[in-house]
Amino acid sequence: MSVVDEIKQRLDIVDLIGSYVSLQKAGRNYKAVCPFHSEKTPSFVVFPDTQTWHCFGACSTGGDLFGFVMRRENMDFSEALRLLAEKAGINLLPLDQEELRQKDDLDRLRAANASAAEFYHRLLMEADRAQSVRDYLQRRGVTRETMATFQLGYAPDEWHALDDHLKREHFAVDDCLEAGLLSRSDSGNIYDRFRGRLMFPIRDIQGHVIGFGGRVLDDSVPKYLNTPQSPLFDKGSVLYGIDLAHRSIRDSGTAIIVEGYMDVIVPYQCGVTNLVGCLGTALTDAHIKTLKRSTKTLILALDPDEAGLTAMERGVQVAREGLDRKVVPVPTAEGLIRYEEQLDAEIRVMTLPDGLDPDELILQDRARWDQLVGEALPVAEYFFRRAQQMADMTTAKGKRQLVDRLLPVLAAMDNPVERTHYLQRLAQLVRVDERDLQTELDGLRGEKARRPVPVAKARVRHQAAGASPQSLSMGLEERSLSLLLQNVGMLRRVVETTGLSAEVFTDIRNKQVFQALEELGTLGPEEDIAEALAGLDTELRVHVQSLLQRLQNGPPLSLEMLEEDVLKCSARLRKDYLARLIQELRFVQQEAQEEGAEERVHELNQRIEQVRRDYLAIDQGFYAVTLVGRKHSRGNPIVSGGS
Ligand code: UTP
Ligand code: MN
Repeated sequence: MSVVDEIKQRLDIVDLIGSYVSLQKAGRNYKAVCPFHSEKTPSFVVFPDTQTWHCFGACSTGGDLFGFVMRRENMDFSEALRLLAEKAGINLLPLDQEELRQKDDLDRLRAANASAAEFYHRLLMEADRAQSVRDYLQRRGVTRETMATFQLGYAPDEWHALDDHLKREHFAVDDCLEAGLLSRSDSGNIYDRFRGRLMFPIRDIQGHVIGFGGRVLDDSVPKYLNTPQSPLFDKGSVLYGIDLAHRSIRDSGTAIIVEGYMDVIVPYQCGVTNLVGCLGTALTDAHIKTLKRSTKTLILALDPDEAGLTAMERGVQVAREGLDRKVVPVPTAEGLIRYEEQLDAEIRVMTLPDGLDPDELILQDRARWDQLVGEALPVAEYFFRRAQQMADMTTAKGKRQLVDRLLPVLAAMDNPVERTHYLQRLAQLVRVDERDLQTELDGLRGEKARRPVPVAKARVRHQAAGASPQSLSMGLEERSLSLLLQNVGMLRRVVETTGLSAEVFTDIRNKQVFQALEELGTLGPEEDIAEALAGLDTELRVHVQSLLQRLQNGPPLSLEMLEEDVLKCSARLRKDYLARLIQELRFVQQEAQEEGAEERVHELNQRIEQVRRDYLAIDQGFYAVTLVGRKHSRGNPIVSGGS
């Protein structure tokens, strides 16, 4: 349980507010003269059931106990948190320290990496003994300027070159070991992990060095040595060059994914800057998640011999932790098509001429490179042609194999038009009755449909089934926010369509995060939300992290699905809020009635009516922008306004 939840559990809002203002019991609730504006008749109400307060007078606002303290004491959230934690007898320090410690740990690893990168780079650029490395790079077409851009380096063939440097710079050995810069032998000796290698610093999207790839300069193995898995470095999610490429990816609307370091560096030097390297591993969800923030079109520039073939095989072979052997990218056809469907992305596959890597091709024949990029095939088409080329169409067995390979690919397609198109093609190809294939396909798709619903959706359903209205609404708050955090660009539309606002959120953390998002407003897709929200205090940052993680286990959602989902949640939230407000207003109205304040009763009546109209308007405004609504209006241009 978070500190905020714990505080809420321990403190009662009636006690707390009662310690500031004198409360008067009225039915189930409590009334007071509003402490926030001057008035004679009490219009400030505390609701013990929901642990909230509301001023129905001039303030016309409300909140929970945090909101009350923040307003009353003129505190920001963290100050209010401290005060309330103290009242509740909760010690806040451990959380803060734990958080700070974690951040500190990462900072120290980053600093050690940055220092190592500089050290290697200086050696490459200046040292006499690096002459042969400079010559090697020159032979591969890399200019000095590019060496500087990518901060390439040289790790000398010694056991303690970096070790000594890091000692001089006062880095703790444990940090250097954890960052994977140094190793410890069985007998306890510390030594340089990278020796006699051309060094490629690997950076995250913000440009921090998180690890290295080191290439041998001869034919020894392993050809590349990587930083082992560490809190900073996860090979399966790294995109080499993302720090330099992400703007260009966004501007060009396309990301080209290549395998290797040189495949990123050389094209970059030639002016093709929207490239990232997946470093020889399979394409993972993590890669796609990073890229989808900048573009919807991905072009895979794969080695035709290996990847093209292997990609057809099922079963993804994933790079094992810290394993420094060559791992062929094996995005399965299904996997890619699933991504394409879910991300609303377009995945294309570009076939390279036999035996040429992107860096070699672009140096040899720039025009041909451009041509091949232009000719990249949509992923379904690519797999179709590929399978066709490979199949032996003269035998029944060969045809069967082709069907077995392609049907799962078709089954993964959610677009019925496309699915039918390929089904027809397959039927013609193997000369089988289309209806028979259709039956098989239905079988496969039936299986697919029976698979568990995506985590994200399942969660909402689960809550809808069992939980109380209060916690349902809490789940919705968090869900809307985590969806919005995935794509802040949707915020404006959501606000316009559903009237979502900070007051709708009952949980103070959610309210604060929403306000922070509102302030950020025009955050570009390439900017890191977590960074942008770094100004929030610890408790809220932890909250944002947990919101960000909420959807991470689920499959990537297409933008359309994302938007529809967030619209639904937000509409629901606002409706819950307005329904609560109506209840509360009724209570206040009843009070006024008993006091014989006719004018006030009338005024409240009008307000209730207005809130009711707002409530009804949400569904209408919302319906028009949903998928169903759009489909409906496409099919029937004249949509009746009512229903
Ligand atoms: P390649 O063997 O195709 O290397 O592996 P390359 O990128 O073409 O390298 P050059 O052109 O010979 O210098 C592709 C990628 O697979 C990873 C590396 O990231 C490499 O760039 N790899 C390869 C490893 O991690 N370890 C290896 O031993 C080999
Ligand atoms: Mn190569």
